[in-house]
Amino acid sequence: MFFKSKKVIGLDIGTSSIKLAEMDFNGKGAQLLSFGFAPTPPNSVSGGEIVDIGAVGMAIQSLVNEVKSKRKSIATAMWGTAVIVKKITIPKMDKKLIKDQIRFEAEQYIPFDINNISLAHHILTASSSPDTMDILLIAAQNELVTQYTQVIEISGLTCGVLDVSGFALANAFELNYGKIPGEVIGILNFGASITNFVVLQNGEVIFCRDIPVGGANYTNEIHKAMGVTVAEAEALKLSAISRREVPDEVHSIISATNEAVTEEIRSSLDFLSATTNGLVLNRCFYTGGSSATSGLTETVSRVTGILLEPFNPFLRVKANPKKFSPEYLEQISSFAGVVTGLALREVGDAT
Ligand SMILES: Nc1ncnc2c1ncn2[C@@H]1O[C@H](COP(=O)(O)OP(=O)(O)OP(=O)(O)O)[C@@H](O)[C@H]1O
Ligand SMILES: [Mg+2]
Repeated sequence: MFFKSKKVIGLDIGTSSIKLAEMDFNGKGAQLLSFGFAPTPPNSVSGGEIVDIGAVGMAIQSLVNEVKSKRKSIATAMWGTAVIVKKITIPKMDKKLIKDQIRFEAEQYIPFDINNISLAHHILTASSSPDTMDILLIAAQNELVTQYTQVIEISGLTCGVLDVSGFALANAFELNYGKIPGEVIGILNFGASITNFVVLQNGEVIFCRDIPVGGANYTNEIHKAMGVTVAEAEALKLSAISRREVPDEVHSIISATNEAVTEEIRSSLDFLSATTNGLVLNRCFYTGGSSATSGLTETVSRVTGILLEPFNPFLRVKANPKKFSPEYLEQISSFAGVVTGLALREVGDAT
């Protein structure tokens, strides 16, 4: 081979689980080559920060060995409150000058020390006036960037692409559903500690934030109210959701937490509307391990008046049925949104 493959291994490092995927893709479509899933070592990832680099690095290494990948480069994504995505408006200017202007603007908009952040930006095609340009500013604390690159390096690979979870989710959406011109599309990825919320307009990300609610809210409420350990609370939650016999209290805690989680989603929708001249979603998709929580998507739909539709990250992805049964694909699909988007990245891609 004359050229090294630029294809990567997608890796989504969550609080509850680590997901890995390899894809092949060309102009004709995409194919899933491998998928790996492992529980995150306890207390090693918190709020998007990798607090135990050694433990997570080992978990990544065993996942990579498990799928016997020949690829050496990883595409992974940061998330949490140490990453900020914000739409700003700047005077129209030459593309070459934007980078300096953005650093200047970031000082006003980003609540972190400007000397310790990494910045990226994306110019939005639509702008509010002819003299200005709308830009999506992406800022991450340098420490976070270091944590993600180091954890990959100690697992023996290189970090070829460092993305943001919401953008990876949007990438997976576009592969499967296209750009859906003219409509404003929301995607909610209900994880363990956060819910990624990303909004697309004409195929472009215009809003992206991590809402600090997820499956851990349910587990913690059960743990606190019923005096059981966190592991027992998690087991009670999953039993209730799969309709096994549990005390009635578990069901009532799940219902009450659905309302609390929905309140946070509703307030993010209000924030979206307030920061985008009253933009409302035409459609909203859901995914994530916690999206199967009984009554959650129904509660969000009832309170917000927006019908939630399931997001299938494998809708247009081919998979060898000898390797991946339809049942297995269905089982992993709600965990695979972010990692599918990452597996489609190539080294050298811009965020
Ligand atoms: N069948 C199920 N029904 C409801 N919740 C579930 C189910 N299976 C797993 N979960 C919950 O899904 C969460 C894990 O989902 P996921 O892997 O998407 O999260 P994560 O990416 O690790 O978390 P985060 O992105 O917040 O760090 C856990 O809170 C777990 O309890
Ligand atoms: Mg996640």
